[in-house]
Amino acid sequence: MPKKVKSTKKKTKLLVLHGPNLNMLGKREKSIYGKLSLEKINSELKKEAKDLNVELEVKQSNIEGELVNFIQKASRNGIEGILINPAAYTHTSVAIRDAILAVKLPTVEVHLSNIYKREEFRHKSLVAPVAVGQISGFGKESYLLGLKALAQSLKK
Ligand code: DQA
Repeated sequence: MPKKVKSTKKKTKLLVLHGPNLNMLGKREKSIYGKLSLEKINSELKKEAKDLNVELEVKQSNIEGELVNFIQKASRNGIEGILINPAAYTHTSVAIRDAILAVKLPTVEVHLSNIYKREEFRHKSLVAPVAVGQISGFGKESYLLGLKALAQSLKK
């Protein structure tokens, strides 16, 4: 039997960023966002990351500037792509959009709910035009699909 050779190739590192109020998942507006906690979503993402052979760094913040700092730091820390749910900042944050443009890291935007089915103010995303793509409306699957899409797009 041939021996399994451990690859010495470094794993691709990705940043998962959760925006404001996502720390309250499982408690907040359950009919829209579901019953799963953020911890559960993160552990499912970690499992998926193993299958995809990528490494994840996961952060959440309720503060816009902190999210900008995480994005800026990512490019210095060897991170190759960003999976982001900017939450309410999706619709308002020029600063997060500019940070993504500044670091030039391929970014996938995800939303648990279908933002286009909801209030009009949620129909506009300032992040989507600078993202590789957006996945919206599939609950936790939006994150898992987004992670797969990001990992795949980096292989090309
Ligand atoms: C959200 C949608 C946003 O409009 C909202 O402000 C959120 C969560 C989502 O995942 O569906 O906080 O990003």
